[in-house]
Amino acid sequence: METIKRIGVLTSGGDCSGLNTAIWAVTSSAISKGWEVFAIENATDGLIVRPMRYRKLTMADFNFPYAKIGGTMLGTNNSGNPNILRRADGTIEELTNEQIIQRFHDGVKELGLDALVVIGGDGSMAIVSNYCKQAGVKMVGIPKTIDNDAPATEEAIGFSTARDIVMKALDEVDTTAHSHERIMILEVMGRGAGHLALEGAIAGMADICLIPEVPYTYEGVVEKLRALRKAGRRHALMVVAEGIKNPEGKLVYSSNGRTFAGVSAYFAERLATEPDKFNVRATILGHVQRGGSPDAQDRILASSFGVHAVNLLEQGLTNRVVVCRDGKVSDMALNNVLKIANTPVDPNGEMVRVARGLGMYVGE
Ligand code: F6P
Repeated sequence: METIKRIGVLTSGGDCSGLNTAIWAVTSSAISKGWEVFAIENATDGLIVRPMRYRKLTMADFNFPYAKIGGTMLGTNNSGNPNILRRADGTIEELTNEQIIQRFHDGVKELGLDALVVIGGDGSMAIVSNYCKQAGVKMVGIPKTIDNDAPATEEAIGFSTARDIVMKALDEVDTTAHSHERIMILEVMGRGAGHLALEGAIAGMADICLIPEVPYTYEGVVEKLRALRKAGRRHALMVVAEGIKNPEGKLVYSSNGRTFAGVSAYFAERLATEPDKFNVRATILGHVQRGGSPDAQDRILASSFGVHAVNLLEQGLTNRVVVCRDGKVSDMALNNVLKIANTPVDPNGEMVRVARGLGMYVGE
């Protein structure tokens, strides 16, 4: 078994709260074993661009409590095109796949890294693991995503804090909804998955929640709003996951054509035309959900994942992904994780049952 002396750590894909906690946990745990830790900046770009973007991490880097704040102190990349890379001076390099693999390999060699700890979402994990495979680099993955649909793990870093943000946003709009007797629609991130919308809606006590996994009808939404009025409620909270199709069967994209945004506006406009004269306002919560200080659950998860990743490397176990299964931290072979599809909300699962049990309209 090859003894580890020096590792690299990087974050890849969209950021979320808890990444700095994971970076701190990996660094602290590795340094306590006498290893050196190199921060690779801006995802894998740091190893591929020239000059390379990296720095050695020591515990002094955490004198300021980065581990307790959002974002990623290493930077990350979610450009949608892995062939376009950012140099430290802000200029762009466009490389072929072959050039990327060669530079990635050379970068790891030059820094003398024995393995990489990759903190990333499903998309970025697939891209980085492909680089590692082709360049013969060992890695351990740590899953993160506010969408909480990462394969094989019950929970990913960032979800809990984002769910709290959704809950708090619903609490905020609830008072103004009450004051003005309005229907407040909150549009929540999650791409093709409804975990964030649904669990946020339960915690924030919404009346309606539409998610991609459960079909709904526009008439069902209107009926629910009428039933609430009849029951004496003059305001309502409605959560829509950004990735639902509008009642005409269309996904609503933001101006970049890649991410979703705007389905809440569709409902706001259409509901206002009903004879009931619904008074509706829509809020897109957006990237607020990706920031903030990690909550206790995310700090504990990120710490546990970081320590587990380093323990795996110490045991000579590489090309594995740290996961949480049955509430316990464990790990799975990277190859197997890559074969598993994302985990959407189970339409017959507990969360949908709870929401319906509360009288929430979640679809048909
Ligand atoms: O996957 C995380 C996520 O925040 C999604 O919920 C959202 O659709 C997307 O990323 C936004 O991506 P970007 O940061 O590129 O706008």
